[in-house]
Amino acid sequence: MTAKILLTGATGYIASHTWLALLEAGFEVVGVDNFSNSSPEVLKRLERLSGRPPVFERADVCDEAALEAVFAAHKPAAVVHFAAFKAVGESTAMPLAYYRNNLGGLINTCETMKRHGCARMVFSSSATVYGAPRPQDLPLREDAALSAVNPYGATKLMGETILRDLGAAEPDWQTACLRYFNPVGAHESGLIGEDPRGIPNNLMPYVAQVAVGRRAELQVFGNDYETPDGTGVRDYIHVVDLAEGHVAALRYLLAGGESLTVNLGTGQGYSVLDLVRAYEAASGRPIPYRIAPRRAGDAAACWADPALAREKLGWSTRYDLARMCQDSWRWQHMNPRGYEQA
Ligand code: WQD
Repeated sequence: MTAKILLTGATGYIASHTWLALLEAGFEVVGVDNFSNSSPEVLKRLERLSGRPPVFERADVCDEAALEAVFAAHKPAAVVHFAAFKAVGESTAMPLAYYRNNLGGLINTCETMKRHGCARMVFSSSATVYGAPRPQDLPLREDAALSAVNPYGATKLMGETILRDLGAAEPDWQTACLRYFNPVGAHESGLIGEDPRGIPNNLMPYVAQVAVGRRAELQVFGNDYETPDGTGVRDYIHVVDLAEGHVAALRYLLAGGESLTVNLGTGQGYSVLDLVRAYEAASGRPIPYRIAPRRAGDAAACWADPALAREKLGWSTRYDLARMCQDSWRWQHMNPRGYEQA
C-alpha cells in the first residue's frame, strides 16, 4: 500500500509543486490549507495536471479540532509541514502573528501527529537561519553558525529547535529539516507558479511582473556590495528541484532514515544583474531597473554547499538559471495576474 502523505500549507507555491511531484512519485497525498496566503484555484490546476481530483481539507493548522478531524479521517504516515507566514518585512511589523501562526501551527501539528502515531515530518526551513553570512562562511554548510535576523527567521530557527528537542524526547520521531535557499521558477506547464499577494518582496516574482508589464521598473537594492558586479548574490533553486528534494527526504524517512538537516540549494550564486539579464533572455522583454539604496538586513552574498543532501538523500539539482527564468516567464505570461484572473 502506498504511504499517505499530509501536506500543510498545501496550496502554497512550494507545497503545490511538491504535491504534484509526490503524486507523480506514486504517493497518496492529502492537502490541508486555510487559503490565508494561497488560492483555491491551485486545486483545479493540480487536477488538470494530475488527472484526478486532489484530496483536500480546508483547515487552519492552529485549529486543534479541525486538524484532529483531518488526521482521524486520513491517518497519514508522514507530514510535510509547509504552513507558515514567510514575509521577512511583514514579520518585523507583526511578530506576534508570525510566532502564533508559524510556531503555534507547528506545535499543534506535532501534537496531533503524536496522538495519531505519525512520527515522520519533513519541515520547511530556510537559509535565513544562517543570518547574514560573511564571505568567509561561504559556501554555507549545515554546521555553519545560526542566527535569527528577523522574526520570520526566528520562527524557522525555533521550529528546528522544537523538532530537535521532540526527536530527543521521542525515539521513534524522525524529522528532515530542509533549508531552502532561494526558490524560483514554476512547473513547465505554466499552470502553477509563484503568486505573491501585493507587491512582491522577492526578486524573481518582481522581475516577472516587470517583464509582463504589471510593474514599471525593478529597484536594485544596492550595487556597492563586495560582489563581482556589486549587487547581491544568491543561490536560486528551481522550485521543481526543490519539490524533488522533498520527495527524496520522504523516501529517506519512510525507509527508516535518522533525523537530519540539509541545505537545498544549487551551490551556485548569481547576482541580481545576472538574474535580470537571464530573465531578459528568457522573456525577450526588457527589464528596466534603477539602483536604489541597500535593503536593511540583506547580506552581500549567500549560497549553499549542497553536498550533504546529495550524500544523504541522493538528491541534487537539475535545472540552471536559464530554465528557472524560462519556466517563471511561461507561468507569468500565461497568468499575468496570477491565480486571481481565474
Ligand atoms: C534576493 C536579492 C535583494 C527584491 C528571502 C528571505 C528568505 C527566503 C527567500 C522565505 C537580494 C535583491 C530583491 C527587489 C532587489 N524566503 N532584490 N530588488 O532576501 O535572499 O531571501 O527570500 O523563506 O527567507 O530572506 O531573497 O528575492 O528578497 O532578494 O534588488 O525588488 O535580490 O537585495 O540581493 P532573499 P530576495
